[in-house]
Amino acid sequence: MAKSTTRWVCSECDASLSGWFGKCPTCGAWNTIEERTTSELPSDRVVLSNSATAPVSVEAAVQDAPRRTTGLAEVDRVLGGGLVTGSVVLLGGPPGIGKSTLLLQVGAGIAARHGNVLYASGEESVAQIAGRAQRLSADASRLLVLAETRIESILDAARELALVGELATVVVDSIQTVYSIGTEGLPGNVSQIRAAAAQLVSFAKLHGVPVVLVGHVTKDGQLAGPRVLEHLVDTVLGFDGDEDRALRLLRASKNRFGSTMELGVFEMGSTGLREIGNPSETFLAERPEGAAGSCITASLEGSRPLLLEVQALLAPASGGARRNCVGVDPARLAMILAVLDRHAGLGVLDHDVFVNVAGGLRLFEPAVDLAIALAVASSHLRRPVVADLVALGEIGLTGEVRQAPRLELRLAEAQRLGFRRAVVAGRGDHRQALPGLEITTARSVEAALEAGLAASAASSGRRRGLR
Ligand code: TYD
Ligand code: MG
Repeated sequence: MAKSTTRWVCSECDASLSGWFGKCPTCGAWNTIEERTTSELPSDRVVLSNSATAPVSVEAAVQDAPRRTTGLAEVDRVLGGGLVTGSVVLLGGPPGIGKSTLLLQVGAGIAARHGNVLYASGEESVAQIAGRAQRLSADASRLLVLAETRIESILDAARELALVGELATVVVDSIQTVYSIGTEGLPGNVSQIRAAAAQLVSFAKLHGVPVVLVGHVTKDGQLAGPRVLEHLVDTVLGFDGDEDRALRLLRASKNRFGSTMELGVFEMGSTGLREIGNPSETFLAERPEGAAGSCITASLEGSRPLLLEVQALLAPASGGARRNCVGVDPARLAMILAVLDRHAGLGVLDHDVFVNVAGGLRLFEPAVDLAIALAVASSHLRRPVVADLVALGEIGLTGEVRQAPRLELRLAEAQRLGFRRAVVAGRGDHRQALPGLEITTARSVEAALEAGLAASAASSGRRRGLR
């Protein structure tokens, strides 16, 4: 018997089912199961090449992948050196964080360097986008704006430019607002997103033009839409930041053409996003000096060391002791507290502990353990950390301090920013001296606290006053 050409599909989650249900057994939505015949299925296959393909040498293929610099060094670094020809990048982020602003600036930067950029928006009118571009003082002569939601029309416009060799990049803002005529359902539903994305990926690969898609993010931080979207694209970038502050962070969670470790830092201002090439200085600008409960560390974000402040506050607990972490792994904090209790004789376990990384960053590297321990001990003992000190090292369960990877890089950044002391793991040996940076080594947490904490609030104040 011939195979059935009918299947039932949930228009909400795209689950394929054996028959009709009132409620989708996969996502729980009501009245979303639709009957489809195979011939009606959306054209969501990705076409990678027009002609029959033959294998090529890796060397030739690598040379064939030139990059388009965006003019924003922070973006280029996160991408791995610019947009790769024919690659597809998905930029996710919560509403209002600045995705459209970033891509308008990136689009203008590419247009100024490499040729026409087609910016297709299903969210804003041409007048709105043009107004914003003007406000960003973006060079707009080769930035072509299209307010359109039909993916076929966007691709027609793109193809026309690409065929005469005049298209450097396509931006689609956002994948949730576009739809394909040949596909059922409203824009934003799973089959529409998949069909539109597949057509855009095919376009990018066939014409060798990079395509950047904006993707909305749900409340819990997931990209709205099918996971398949993340599999289809080459690079997934996330744009986020503290809602109350102007700081914006760009990271790659997937990158076929570069590392996923790099961090791009921006500040949102009245004329758009400003790159922050020296984030350590920004993060440390508001640091309180001489206050107990604050310690500076150098965290590696990709190739770049970042100096950050860890803050801690301890208060006697009434009832069960609470742990409140922002930017620090709660399990890591629990371990550090247990080590401080057992190996440094600090009775911190019956205290409420609040730990915060200033600037809204996340510190999940073990190398920052020592700074967390010092901030906690400093608050508990009400003794500030020694002035101008950075702490670097991983803490082990027996109270030992282990060396932070790529220590020299971190120390060099601390020295560059005027830090004069560092506590690191070791036995008091080695270390090439960095001018002006006095390095103290500690083998145990106890020794590190001894070296890192000022004798008392009063005496440290006196010391600073004398300088
Ligand atoms: P937008 O790029 O529209 O965010 P998204 O596309 O991620 O939804 O940016 C929205 C916010 O950025 C908005 O609240 C206004 C602010 N903004 C500035 O502060 N300065 C600027 O120059 C621009 C263009 C926007
Ligand atoms: Mg937008």
